[in-house]
Order: sequence, then structure tokens, then C-alpha cells
Amino acid sequence: MRYLTLALISSLAAFAADPPEQAKRGKELFALKSASGSACSTCHQLDDLGSAVGPDLKTMGRLHPRAVVMGILATRTQYVKEISQETRKSFPAIKSGEDYFDLSKNPPVKVALSPSDIKSAKDNGNWKHPPESRGLKREQLADLIAYIRFATFGDTKGVPVSDIP
Ligand code: HEC
Repeated sequence: MRYLTLALISSLAAFAADPPEQAKRGKELFALKSASGSACSTCHQLDDLGSAVGPDLKTMGRLHPRAVVMGILATRTQYVKEISQETRKSFPAIKSGEDYFDLSKNPPVKVALSPSDIKSAKDNGNWKHPPESRGLKREQLADLIAYIRFATFGDTKGVPVSDIP
């Protein structure tokens, strides 16, 4: 009986943790590699999926889908810097926690950079958020955001396509 109860509880927990259809499609899209060989998960981490190179998308999970779309389609960057060093031509990089990632590589690679290694850090003017993300259809953007919301606060309501500009 006790084992049966435990089995029941764990299957209920598994049910609760299962994303609804739309978020499930969004999760697949998040991990799907595009022609350039990168997926959202190459640079963003949600729960156990992906690498934390770019910003944590959970900070956007409760914003209106419009704001998240702006982040995905943005052509200007806020965090990426153009780093130059004595020993190396300048390259685009982003600081993630204590680490820097070299965005000139695909996938981006972690680089050891201490402040004394950095000759200058300028605002980025060259690196662009993967342009293929601009080819996403409105339905796909809604699915992706449904997954971001599910991962952020367990949202199961989903995102209507009419919320996507
Ligand atoms: C090659 C790495 C890379 C890939 C692939 C990538 N991103 Fe990003 N993303 C970044 C970086 C770096 C930034 C920060 C840009 C900046 O400086 O503002 C960012 C920013 C964002 C933002 C804005 C976050 C904020 O806090 O302002 C969103 C939303 C986002 N990405 C979603 C996505 C989605 C969805 C995909 C897949 C369709 C994707 N990204 C693919 C690297 C990537």
C-alpha cells in the first residue's frame, strides 16, 4: 500500500511537471538547431536545458510576450561587449556570472579573462543576435514564449498568437 501511494504521488508529480502541448512545442524549438548550427539552447539555459551564455530568460518570463519578442528580434545589444586585448584582435564577448564567453565562436566558448587582460571593452557594434531568430513565425514565437513562461513559473495557460506583434 505504501509503495502504491508513493508510486501514485510520484506519477502525479511527473504529471504536474509535464509542460502542456504549446510549451512542449516551444521546448523542442528552443533546442532545435538552425542552419547555422545553433539553437536557442546553445546560448540560453532554461532548467536543465542549454548553456547559460546569454541572459537568463526567466527574468523575462513574466513580461508581456511583446517584450520578449522585442528581446528575441532585437538588432541592438545591451550586454555584449567588443573586447580587445594586447595579444588578440578584438572580439565580441558577454559576461555570464563570473565567466566571459567568446561570441565569435559557434558555439561560444568560455574564455579566461581577468580585468588586467582587457585593454578595452566597448559597446558592441558587430555581433548580432542570431538572425535566423528573425525568421520565426508568430506561432513559433508564441510557442517559445509559452515554454519560457512554463519554465519560469509553471504557467500552463500558454500564449495566444494574437499577443505576438
Ligand atoms: C549564439 C548565441 C545565442 C543564440 C543562438 C540565441 N541567443 Fe538570445 N541572446 C544571446 C545574447 C548574447 C543575448 C544578449 C544580447 C545583448 O547584449 O543585449 C541574447 C538576448 C536574448 C533575449 C533578450 C534577453 C534580455 O534580458 O534582454 C532573448 C529574449 C533571447 N535572447 C531569446 C533567444 C531565443 C528565443 C533564441 C532562439 C530562437 C536565442 N535567444 C538564441 C545569445 C544567443
